[in-house]
Amino acid sequence: MGKNNFSNDNYFFRRKTESENGYALTFDDILCLPGYTDFDPKDVSIDTTIGPFSFKLPIFSAAMDTVTETEMAIQMALLGGLGVIHRNCPYDRQLSMVKKVKRARSFIVREVATVHPTDTDVQVKLKMEQFGVSGFVVLDENDKVIGIVTARDLPYDQNKKFLVKDIMTKNPICASEKISQKQAIQKLYEIRKEKLPLVNKDNELVGLITRKDLRPEFPDASKDKDGRLLCGLGISPTLPSNPMDLETFKKIDELVDIFFTDVADVYKRDDLNGIKAIMENTQTPIVLGNIGTFEAAEAILTKWDFPDDKLLGLKVGMGSGSICITTIQTGIGAPTLFATAEVADAIQMYNPKIALIADGGLKNSGDLIKAFAAGADATMSGHFFAGCTESPGYIDTIGGRKVKVYRGMGSKEARATGTYAFDRYSNVKKLAEGVSDYVPFVGDVSGVMEQLCEGLRNGLVYGGAQTIQQAKHIKIRKITHAGKIESSAHDLLSRK
Ligand code: IMP
Repeated sequence: MGKNNFSNDNYFFRRKTESENGYALTFDDILCLPGYTDFDPKDVSIDTTIGPFSFKLPIFSAAMDTVTETEMAIQMALLGGLGVIHRNCPYDRQLSMVKKVKRARSFIVREVATVHPTDTDVQVKLKMEQFGVSGFVVLDENDKVIGIVTARDLPYDQNKKFLVKDIMTKNPICASEKISQKQAIQKLYEIRKEKLPLVNKDNELVGLITRKDLRPEFPDASKDKDGRLLCGLGISPTLPSNPMDLETFKKIDELVDIFFTDVADVYKRDDLNGIKAIMENTQTPIVLGNIGTFEAAEAILTKWDFPDDKLLGLKVGMGSGSICITTIQTGIGAPTLFATAEVADAIQMYNPKIALIADGGLKNSGDLIKAFAAGADATMSGHFFAGCTESPGYIDTIGGRKVKVYRGMGSKEARATGTYAFDRYSNVKKLAEGVSDYVPFVGDVSGVMEQLCEGLRNGLVYGGAQTIQQAKHIKIRKITHAGKIESSAHDLLSRK
């Protein structure tokens, strides 16, 4: 398949999706055509990059409060994608979620959770919950390591009172801070322990290595340069005005990898000015969104002078989300497929380094390749993941079926939580722009991802594209209503 024949055609993606002819097509309006396959199916790669970050899976979970909190973000990153934590909560809650993700895996944990010998059972249990960890290093008053206490040391009788010093393992084996990964694996095996505290020459704690973090069970995990999981975060388009929130935001900025401005339509003077101020005051690079047109992308890439190292990508789609009623309520929308093609052309023209994330409206694994054929580098979905074990919320049962709640961030139910994400929309008073409903419980996210990726890989093989970049060359055709019926199961007893 030829390389980059879109780089010198300013209308390549818009022509493909007929946006040039006045249509705003959706995923269901099109299909991708088969292409010549001159490679072995096992050699297909669905790797992608967003600025300096590499992902084995080009699929991210949405910044929504019924989709991505700590558990989802950890699992998404372990599998090779990215979880983008929502912003419908106070900044300190966001900080605590980001901390848990960054702490979940790393060769060396630097911010080690510690307790003191005289801490009580109540303090230990509270800390376990707060930090989301199952064990602590015990330090004396001079910060020297004197023990380890883990969930396994807690008394069987949950009401039994204790002090850390009564139950801890004393004088644990420690290693030098200079230990290599190979030596650490060997050492942990020799001592048959889960945790190896690292100390400096004065026996002061400087880090912790855990057996869990060394296991090669997630070879595709999305990691930063220190081996910690990558974590995205939905943010407002303005810096926090309250000094305490600003201080917390700065702490988040030191930890998180990518900010995603979480706004329904960010092509607004005030929002773009706000984002500029964020870029000037923080270090985390930003994916800016959402936008829906060539014009918006062109303006952002040519008129706003966003620094190259700060603006990583553009997130596109408006009114397409499965829980979204923006277009019904306001008449405005930019279906994700259409928006992808529009913005892809602008990116090719003005700055091909910018990544494009197609957000919302994906219903089946087959929609993924459609997004890539329209010019996307990665996709974002709430719909695929809201029913997973790892999404926030409880499993309910309706009519004998297991379900979970999935709600739009502009639904009245999400807004009842507080005003945190009110600036996601233009002029919030009462008008809801999202709905809340149930989705089927679909089990662990790993199973969902496996299905999605298999669909995507097979699509690439049929389309004759070995990589996501090559998928941008896959041809697209509009289909008729009859074509849509013929594309799914039909003319069977239960499907007329
Ligand atoms: P889905 O995967 O099709 O359900 O779409 C998820 C996307 O919809 C999110 O990533 C957001 O961009 C968008 N979204 C989330 N909440 C709302 C809402 O209340 N109204 C409109 N769009 C929303």
